[in-house]
Amino acid sequence: MKVLEGKASVVTGGGRGIGRGHCLRLAENGGAVVVNDVDLEEAKKVVAEIEQAGGKASANDSDIGTREGAAQLVDQCVSEFGRIDGCVNNAGIVRDRTFLKMTDSEFDDVFRIHAKGTFMCAQEAALRMKEQGGGGSIVNTVSAAHYGNFGQTNYAGAKGAIASMTYTWALELSRYGIRVNAISPSGSTRMSATYKGADGKEVEAPFVDPTLNGHFVAWLCSDDANWVTGQLFGTGRDRVLVVEQPRYGTGMFMPGGLTVAELQEHFRGSLGDKLESFGLMKSAYPFHDGVGPKPKS
Ligand SMILES: NC(=O)c1ccc[n+]([C@@H]2O[C@H](COP(=O)([O-])OP(=O)(O)OC[C@H]3O[C@@H](n4cnc5c(N)ncnc54)[C@H](O)[C@@H]3O)[C@@H](O)[C@H]2O)c1
Repeated sequence: MKVLEGKASVVTGGGRGIGRGHCLRLAENGGAVVVNDVDLEEAKKVVAEIEQAGGKASANDSDIGTREGAAQLVDQCVSEFGRIDGCVNNAGIVRDRTFLKMTDSEFDDVFRIHAKGTFMCAQEAALRMKEQGGGGSIVNTVSAAHYGNFGQTNYAGAKGAIASMTYTWALELSRYGIRVNAISPSGSTRMSATYKGADGKEVEAPFVDPTLNGHFVAWLCSDDANWVTGQLFGTGRDRVLVVEQPRYGTGMFMPGGLTVAELQEHFRGSLGDKLESFGLMKSAYPFHDGVGPKPKS
């Protein structure tokens, strides 16, 4: 028996790129899939591909950045396949611009689809999973951009919000047996074609099969992974990586707390060489001479 036999899932933005791969892998492992995409023609093509291979799928063109769209997507899964066991929040857009030039609408559009869309779809799905008696798998999509990435205030911020929501929902939904994880995928897609290097220039990257992320998503939605929750994973290509979670690191301590005078005296010597590189590229501190892992005395 295939690992997803009897289970049904929705995949947002499943019409192309990484989401298409999730749909194909869920279906080839026996799951029924609602392939969502605002681009209905692309969603229908994926449905046809799944059906041709003997799988079960149906197309949905909800805008998942609206409450009606999120509710309608989950309704369709339950009315067509009798239940919902998996919710894969994958849909996304980019509107890159440097922070000082970014407009409100560029910020709002990206947050609406990534952060709020993930919130609404996951909530609609989790309510239905709870009603069914519990159990289920929510898979969100983050990006290494959430460590900070040049020109991506909106995208990095929304992905960081999704990471934090993933940890929070994993805590809240464990009582219903609903697991919540996120992947940070990789693949050559329409979106990845917009990526720029650290210098802001176009990069020529080798082709990476975007459908490879789907194997891990299918496994996460199976009962074999029924003990895995609250985790972020780097997926795609030839590996699966555990993304380390933010935590308090090394520190300095003083009974009664640290005054400005004490910080002036001790901070550089105690923590100056403990400060971490930051950003997706983990570049050294790009900040004059004042900040750096090895400060000048
Ligand atoms: N490609 C990469 O290397 C990479 C890296 C990190 C994270 N990601 C993430 O993976 C996910 C998929 O990205 P991709 O590279 O496959 O991009 P893509 O542009 O190829 O596919 C995204 C799909 O989402 C659909 N979509 C957009 N807005 C929607 C909406 N409101 N409702 C429903 N569908 C909508 C689009 O029509 C498109 O088919 C995104 O969340 C992205 O941020 C991608």
